Amino acid sequence: MEKFRCPQCNSTYPIESTRWRCDCGSFLDLQFEPKFDIKKIQKREPTLWRYREAIPVARDASIVSMGEGFTPLESMEWNGHLVLLKIDYLFPTGSYKDRGATVLISKVKEFGIKKVVEDSSGNAGCAIAAYSARARIGCEIYVPEATSAEKLVQIRAYGAILNRIEGSRERTAEVTMKAASKTYYASHCWNPFFLHGTKTFAFEIWEQMGWKTPHVIVLPVGHGTLFLGTYIGFKELKEAGMIKKVPRLVAVQSGSCAPLDLAFKKGWKEAKPIEKKETMAEGIAIAEPVRGRQILKAIRETDGEVLTVTEKEIEGAMREMGIKGHFIEPTSAATIAGLKKYLKHIKKEIVVSTLTGMGLKAAGKM
Ligand SMILES: Cc1ncc(COP(=O)(O)O)c(C=O)c1O
Ligand SMILES: [Zn+2]
Repeated sequence: MEKFRCPQCNSTYPIESTRWRCDCGSFLDLQFEPKFDIKKIQKREPTLWRYREAIPVARDASIVSMGEGFTPLESMEWNGHLVLLKIDYLFPTGSYKDRGATVLISKVKEFGIKKVVEDSSGNAGCAIAAYSARARIGCEIYVPEATSAEKLVQIRAYGAILNRIEGSRERTAEVTMKAASKTYYASHCWNPFFLHGTKTFAFEIWEQMGWKTPHVIVLPVGHGTLFLGTYIGFKELKEAGMIKKVPRLVAVQSGSCAPLDLAFKKGWKEAKPIEKKETMAEGIAIAEPVRGRQILKAIRETDGEVLTVTEKEIEGAMREMGIKGHFIEPTSAATIAGLKKYLKHIKKEIVVSTLTGMGLKAAGKM
């Protein structure tokens, strides 16, 4: 039976519930048993919905899809290392967040919910707004006022109500949580259905590598929705007996906002809020990651690590990728700056990383 389960106090709640947190205050996880049938998967369209039996949406009629996913896994050489890059800016809204939005909004449609609210640094807001529009579900998005103008235009283009909130990303979250007491909270950080969309990143890598896994995956981490989705995806494959080992997961943070780096180095179980500085990487400028505890556990369990990058390194990586034919936004370039650091201290590992957001989303700032 599918249920919400609290990883902190073990309480469970029925899945129909529109609650977004446990009575103890913690975020909730989803208890769900996925199935994988390689023969069936291979016959399906090249979208992330090919892993249908592993996605917790009951009825096909609930699916809100724009043919998203199954993004290219491009091989690239970097100082003698072969790297596989998942081109995840190739989604309908220009970022990987559509993985989470297609699944979460399908579930919202299945529940019969008519309106959602979400807060975001920009890209998750674009994704939730787009999929809500497709499902004819009302949508209200809250963003910090410093969010790139292009993302604001994009959210409005999908017909969502946009609220720009003065102050930090954390203040935006506080205001949204108040609104969420009356409306369904389609939050990418709190809502576990979002992670059961981002987990398809792991399934695609597994299939595109010939049903195998890489040694390591280097990923951007703000609230960690791609990071945790990847962890959940590989865990599910392991538990289903499809792979032997979950790859090492390496988290990249901006040096100007790196609460997980601090907690990892100090050996803390939980990330503590930090004072952040300005960073070009707006998507990962998260001083208080909701699922910090869970991210730290996944890093330690997979023998991973946290790498931080400077503003100069982010800019350098952005220019370097442009010359390689990929126009990416600064948040996405931060991952590549981290990847370059990681490659310096390894020999023969198969490394996968990703380009999460397209350059047009922050062209003005760039
Ligand atoms: C382009 C891009 N990459 C990576 C991230 C990081 O995602 P998360 O906060 O879920 O770790 C974001 C978040 O907004 C983003 O917009
Ligand atoms: Zn609890």
